[in-house]
Amino acid sequence: MNAPVSVDTLRQQALEAPEAYWQEASKLVDWMIPPETILDDSQAPFYRWYRGGVMNTCYNAVDRHVEAGRGEQVAIIYDSPVTGKKREYTYKDLQIAVARTAGMLVKYGVTKGDRVVIYMPMVPEAIFAMLACARIGAVHSVVFGGFAAKELAKRIEDAKPKVVMSASCGIEPNRIVHYSPLLKEALTLCEHKVEKCIILERPQSPVALNEETDVDWLTEMQFNRQVDCVPVMATDPLYILYTSGTTGVPKGVVRDNGGHAAALCWSMKNIYGAQAGDVYWAASDIGWVVGHSYITYAPLLAGCTTVIYEGKPVGTPDPGAFWRMIEEYNVNIFFTAPTAIRAVKGEDPDGEFLKGKNLSSLRALFLAGERADPDTLKWAETKLQRPVIDHWWQTELGWPALAACMGLGDTHTLHGAAGRAVPGFDVQIIDENNQPVSVGETGDIVIKLPLPPGCLPTLWQGNDKMHDSYLAEHEGYYSTGDAGFIDEDGFVHVMSRTDDLINVAGHRLSTGGMEQVLASHPSVAECAVIGAADALKGQTPVGFVVLKTNNKTADEQLKKELVTSVRETIGPVAAFKQVHIVGKLPKTRSGKILRKTIRQIVDGEKWEPPATLDDPAGLDAIINISNT
Ligand code: COA
Ligand code: AMP
Repeated sequence: MNAPVSVDTLRQQALEAPEAYWQEASKLVDWMIPPETILDDSQAPFYRWYRGGVMNTCYNAVDRHVEAGRGEQVAIIYDSPVTGKKREYTYKDLQIAVARTAGMLVKYGVTKGDRVVIYMPMVPEAIFAMLACARIGAVHSVVFGGFAAKELAKRIEDAKPKVVMSASCGIEPNRIVHYSPLLKEALTLCEHKVEKCIILERPQSPVALNEETDVDWLTEMQFNRQVDCVPVMATDPLYILYTSGTTGVPKGVVRDNGGHAAALCWSMKNIYGAQAGDVYWAASDIGWVVGHSYITYAPLLAGCTTVIYEGKPVGTPDPGAFWRMIEEYNVNIFFTAPTAIRAVKGEDPDGEFLKGKNLSSLRALFLAGERADPDTLKWAETKLQRPVIDHWWQTELGWPALAACMGLGDTHTLHGAAGRAVPGFDVQIIDENNQPVSVGETGDIVIKLPLPPGCLPTLWQGNDKMHDSYLAEHEGYYSTGDAGFIDEDGFVHVMSRTDDLINVAGHRLSTGGMEQVLASHPSVAECAVIGAADALKGQTPVGFVVLKTNNKTADEQLKKELVTSVRETIGPVAAFKQVHIVGKLPKTRSGKILRKTIRQIVDGEKWEPPATLDDPAGLDAIINISNT
């Protein structure tokens, strides 16, 4: 038997001859017509992979496995502790469900290139909906259920969907989240007119459908109106996923079909070491990129069994939920966010809930979404006695750029570092003059263009926005927005963001967006929101507001109103619960609010008053608050 190729060799090959490298990877995809050009660089810095290739992502994720004789294998396990429901779907069941869902979309006029917004909880129908769009070449845009009506409206307004697919509710441990009123409000806020809303009624929240505009999902699915996969170009869009930008306007990350399928297949085999038949569980939500890539697409493209878990790490019913799932379903590879492990560790520090559990199926735990602190890593390693692999990526990239490639025999990790570059990603650290910094020196984390397949080719708002957002700051590179350093062994240490995005429980949020909401309150003169360190969630937002002189509302009432308005405008997921009223904000003489200094003071870090400080009273106000 040939010795497996080392990750170092592959990294070198991908750098030296990317076209040959990604041509080989494209063989993991079934093509109707193979690509004519592997890398089209004619419009650099906008690159396209697999130009001329024709395929269908849904065919690759579903039908090809049925044709290959895996129809009876379980494709989806649904486990919902919040409703007490469990169900399994074979690849054959999945094929029928997806083909019928696609038939329903076609009946309501959805064709290739049309957009479909999916606002759904973690139920199998959400995955059927995504795959049904892929089947007919429609472009889905999934919106996370924890966003409020206004955020949903922004996404509908930008994507201009023909149809919205939603459910009557999501279920949080402490409440039912009724989606229908949120959707209704969002639609009234939009100028764009959606033709139909297809609503999955759940028993926990019955809805009265509007005969003209709404369609009952379950009734429609009774018709056996199955449609087949349509050919799409590799470069056609598969989906748009909105992510927080530095302003309140989310960026529409576009994912194409061919590059995405090839990259995800490559990652399943080489990063996660997964094979067809394995059970792969990413405990995330389909509203995030982890859910897109590693709940829906990658496990199914690779012929694995994927898991839809409608529950939480703790409280549904206890901190043993993850271990119960791994034992019950023989999970081979498990992926979650560090915050989820911190929640489990917080409630069960001694691992009592692990006792007596048979986790022999588990090969590794992968973590991503935020910086993994060494304590959490150590705890998981000790308790699980398995490789615990931190890996780093972003909505824009679509799949891991820094990782230990377990499928290539590499489980080499270093606490505090997010991993080494995955073959295909030329990750570098540079300064503001585009010059490489020395080993161990901190700078901007960038990726040399072209990005490999699977990463965003553009933004839905267009190439200019893509250029301004990611390509303009460092010519020839994609700017990740993260800062960090590379050590002498090639490990990349991701230390912080360079913009005003924060990471709350693995969710990326814009403090600028929250500031806009606070500033719109009639009593607020000016404000700042920072991400303060939080032992469970990594960061939580904290607001500071200066009031207008004519304000008449009592402080406590005002704080309540501000918290409520962020919750109602952005959503509960923002976890905005702390706001302080101050007489002044610390600023430079040119009027720039010193957010970094505020954060350092709040977090109890070392800080220096900047030479350009306008008035020390602003700093004193923050110091007083952090001392109480
Ligand atoms: N629909 C509606 N509301 C939602 C929601 C959804 N899909 N998901 C979360 N929320 C709400 C929660 O109910 C909560 O509301 P509350 O303020 O009324 O309690 C709020 O948003 C914050 O939720 P969450 O971030 O889940 O915090 P939590 O305190 O309820 O739970 C953890 C803490 C650590 C258990 C939880 O954050 C978690 O499971 N994190 C894993 C994150 C993850 O998978 N990230 C994906 C990136 S890989
Ligand atoms: P998102 O696009 O929501 O997935 O958020 C991506 C951002 O989360 C990255 O730019 C990082 O700031 C952060 N992030 C994700 N994974 C990691 C990790 N493993 N280590 C440190 N930060 C991470």
